[in-house]
Amino acid sequence: MKCIILAAGKGVRMKSEVPKPLHPIHSRSMLAHLIHTVNKAGIKVSNIVLVLGHGADKIKKVFENFNFAYQAKQLGSGNAVQCARKYLKGYNGDVLILYSDTPLLKKDTLIKLVKTHKKTKSRCTILTAEIDKPDGYGRVIRNDKKEIEKIVEEKDASSKQKKDMHEINVGAYVFKKETLFSYLKKVKLNLRKKEYYLTDIINILQKSKIPIESVLTEDQTEALGINSKAELEKASCILKEGNLETFMEKGVSIADSGTTHIDYEAIIGKDTFIYPHTVIEEDVEIGKNCKIGPFAHLRPGTRIGSNVEIGNFVELVRTEVGNNCKIKHLTYLGDARVGRNVNVGAGVITANYDGKKKNKTIIGDNVFIGVGAILIAPVKIGKGALVGAGSVVTKGKNVPPRGTVIGVPARPFHKK
Ligand code: UD1
Ligand code: CA
Repeated sequence: MKCIILAAGKGVRMKSEVPKPLHPIHSRSMLAHLIHTVNKAGIKVSNIVLVLGHGADKIKKVFENFNFAYQAKQLGSGNAVQCARKYLKGYNGDVLILYSDTPLLKKDTLIKLVKTHKKTKSRCTILTAEIDKPDGYGRVIRNDKKEIEKIVEEKDASSKQKKDMHEINVGAYVFKKETLFSYLKKVKLNLRKKEYYLTDIINILQKSKIPIESVLTEDQTEALGINSKAELEKASCILKEGNLETFMEKGVSIADSGTTHIDYEAIIGKDTFIYPHTVIEEDVEIGKNCKIGPFAHLRPGTRIGSNVEIGNFVELVRTEVGNNCKIKHLTYLGDARVGRNVNVGAGVITANYDGKKKNKTIIGDNVFIGVGAILIAPVKIGKGALVGAGSVVTKGKNVPPRGTVIGVPARPFHKK
């Protein structure tokens, strides 16, 4: 199966310098999200053609290894599909067409669309949705026999059609390639919008006695087309909620989903509790029975063992933390490796960046670091060592196992 994704539009309603497909929705860009779903539905990157136009250079930088078609002038969705034609040379199967601004589509829905198309030996199958407020969408018009007759765009719809018709065109289609391109040629310029509408092909097919099959989405939120920042936020919230539910199904406890952000790919063990206002970015792993937050920020490269407590205003990046550690307040650890049973006092900071490069801090098992200590990397704190409150352990002044250091700069302390 080949797939064409239309992503050339200007996205005027976003009122942004950023091309619409690159706008982030939850953890990923809209386009990355859609491609992820397409991949999960079984279509490989090599079988996808992205149609780019507005902001093409910026998009190409992010999606380097894709096939691109270029739409020089934004002459509508019908024209955008035409632009992809030469990339399908020699191919004669079915083509899935999607819009980059409909990123909530689910894998199972795409599979159902394709399966229905194949089972009914259809030449054109479209995805529709029943929507309470269909404003802005193309309406699906059926005849007395309930067969699809045409799609009427909002701008061209009569007030009766706008009011009565709640079945909308989602913007996902499967066509036989041959049917698609031989009938797309017949689509005329819409004079009102000066665009060639892909949707006009439906009425042309119907008039040529080619039946149009359809699949209705089970969930109307899937159909959400994103044209503005408010719609983007709405879609983000839907995805976020679904994602947090997936973590909860795996046994993670989340205290306040409204203020919690967890990346899709994060790995979190059972009975770990995530408190409010916590942000967990990509490439983070957390073990079982941990307490994270409130107000914790776990950035990429964080690895946390089990039974660990990470408290308020703690930020970790590229840092490993062993089992049974407590890092409970106001701490920043960057490029650090922390052993097991370590207590990191309030306000401890690793000074990992020397202005040129990032340096490592190694903290052994059973270490105690007093409140407000600063560890200037690269530095090692040996097993069982103690760093006094307010100490500044300077670069390379490694603390030996079971040693105690105090002061600014930190010096060995021997009990009398
Ligand atoms: C479109 C559909 C409408 C449907 C709605 C679903 C058409 C004519 N209308 O309307 O029936 O209900 O989506 O969300 O298709 N694009 C290009 N080149 C262009 C114009 C658009 O690549 O010249 C791309 C856009 O990047 C976008 C998609 O096509 O991904 C749809 O375009 P958009 O202008 O957003 O169409 P809608 O008015 O939302
Ligand atoms: Ca749209």
